[in-house]
Amino acid sequence: MARFFLPFLLMFLCVQTTLSSGVFELKISSFSSSRGVCGFQTRDCQIFFRVCLKHSQDVINPEPPCTYGTALTDIFGADSKSISSSAPIRVPFHFKWPGTFSLIIEAWNAESSIIGSTDNQNNLISRLATRRRLTVGEEWSQDVDFSNKSELRYSYHVICDEHYHGVECSAYCRPRNDTFGHYTCDEPGDRVCLEGWTGVYCDV
Ligand SMILES: *[C@@H]1O[C@H](CO)[C@@H](O)[C@H](O)[C@H]1NC(C)=O
Ligand SMILES: *[C@@H]1O[C@H](CO)[C@@H](O)[C@H](O)[C@H]1NC(C)=O
Repeated sequence: MARFFLPFLLMFLCVQTTLSSGVFELKISSFSSSRGVCGFQTRDCQIFFRVCLKHSQDVINPEPPCTYGTALTDIFGADSKSISSSAPIRVPFHFKWPGTFSLIIEAWNAESSIIGSTDNQNNLISRLATRRRLTVGEEWSQDVDFSNKSELRYSYHVICDEHYHGVECSAYCRPRNDTFGHYTCDEPGDRVCLEGWTGVYCDV
């Protein structure tokens, strides 16, 4: 019996000890390069982007490891319509959101046979590395970068997962109405007792 329950118990404990949780999202709205996005190959030019998040560094080393997380977009056509309608890149995290970070965005030519490969540096079209300060919120911050003879317009935000609150996405509060408590949650993640209930857990 114990052997049967142990995995579930461990799973439960793991879920309980994830004390912070959220996602960094970045939308690419346009990208162009004066050198041509795919060089001389203009037909069927396909690209993808990579986002790498790192701890804040004075001099950013753009190489992995991406200590805060990394993600790739799908591969899509290099035309402006495909780029502007591409889905946001999502980098989930499970630590207290630090507020400052290094952001590295790379544009890659996807012509190579290995889908989404970032091994061949020749396929790297452009790379930007910048330090950013960002507070948790739905609102998108807009930015534009002109390095590497290209122009990249993008926007980004960081939001907490459901039931996580506060400036670091570390305040966990899930509304409940049962023997363990009777409350809803406010913006910073504090319990707000339902009418007629008091106590820290609103169970009195
Ligand atoms: C982009 O520019 C930076 C410095 O301006 C340089 O270090 C980097 O190698 C360039 N990347 C590419 C792909 O040209
Ligand atoms: C909480 O539960 C009680 C009894 O189960 C119910 O009467 C009450 O309407 C519930 N309150 C809310 C806000 O769901």
